[in-house]
Amino acid sequence: MQNNQSIVVLFGGSGQIGRSLLRRLTEKGYRIIIVTRSPYRNLHLKVLGNPGQIDLEKNLNLLDEEKIKNILKSADIVINLCGILYETKKQTFEDIHSKFPEMLSSLCNTLEISKLIHISALGIDEKNRSKYMQSKLQGEKNILKFKKSIILRPSLIFGKNDSFFNKFASMAEFLPALPLIGSGLTKFSPIWVEDVSNAIMKVIEKKNFKNNIYELGGPEVFSFRELMEILLKQIKKKRLLIPIPWGIARYQAKFLELFTKSLLTQDQVILLQDTDSIVSGNYPGLNDLDINSTSVESVLPDYIYRFRKGGHYNSN
Ligand SMILES: NC(=O)c1ccc[n+]([C@@H]2O[C@H](COP(=O)([O-])OP(=O)(O)OC[C@H]3O[C@@H](n4cnc5c(N)ncnc54)[C@H](OP(=O)(O)O)[C@@H]3O)[C@@H](O)[C@H]2O)c1
Repeated sequence: MQNNQSIVVLFGGSGQIGRSLLRRLTEKGYRIIIVTRSPYRNLHLKVLGNPGQIDLEKNLNLLDEEKIKNILKSADIVINLCGILYETKKQTFEDIHSKFPEMLSSLCNTLEISKLIHISALGIDEKNRSKYMQSKLQGEKNILKFKKSIILRPSLIFGKNDSFFNKFASMAEFLPALPLIGSGLTKFSPIWVEDVSNAIMKVIEKKNFKNNIYELGGPEVFSFRELMEILLKQIKKKRLLIPIPWGIARYQAKFLELFTKSLLTQDQVILLQDTDSIVSGNYPGLNDLDINSTSVESVLPDYIYRFRKGGHYNSN
């Protein structure tokens, strides 16, 4: 482990990217403050560092400016990984994706923080009508008000704790068929979570930037249908793939939202309909950070095997 006294304040550090990033930060000797709604549920994160290297700071309201200012007083680098996929009564896209970044960039300016790294999403486009993407777009504009900010836009992220392959694999456990929203035509260039955290580390250590926005996509582009086929091949299950046209998908989502928003929302249907999640080529990317991206099929078998009948004993 290297000795490095810089303090990194991590918002959303308990999530998928956060857990992968933490190991890299501790290896480099950074001191880390993770801001979380639930320190008790996330105590296990402390063992990823040496004693005293990782602190968990409880914060229930991201828009509590005084509290956040106090937390940021000791920070050298600030990283924002907070994001949600659907709104609830307590949390809105506007608050988490737009207002919080606005407050953060203003505080970083006041406190003269040396770098603010913000994770947005690929497919950001004025034309995307989804509330999710509109709020992410506004968030980016707000973040860029602080001149020392860098935005990373990842495509769909895969890895041990991902919410894509794991979710559809668990659906395939009990459903005879899987839905192809919008007939499964939306394109993604999935990126491994370790490549995303590697990119964040490179941005932390990089001194000069020609551009404040990076697009992070993996080495291949797949349609939603192709991703479902890869998944079914890996979990060795035969399931019907049923194309659902956009209009019907929205109608189904409207019904599902009455019970749970974790399966599909109308906003997610619009998100998938309006833009692909692929690199546009208008911004620098992984190559510019000297990262060779990792393919889905070289990583997916390592964690998705648990959905196969017989688990890792069924590897042929
Ligand atoms: N996963 C993907 O495929 C993907 C793709 C493109 C972009 N992104 C973006 O990348 C970022 C990180 O993604 P991830 O997959 O690591 O996310 P994640 O696993 O869902 O974690 C999100 C984090 O956000 C925090 N958070 C959520 N709601 C909050 C609230 N109301 N107040 C305070 N904190 C809140 C949570 O912290 P606590 O629960 O500890 O408070 C959690 O650690 C997000 O901005 C996401 O939109 C992700």
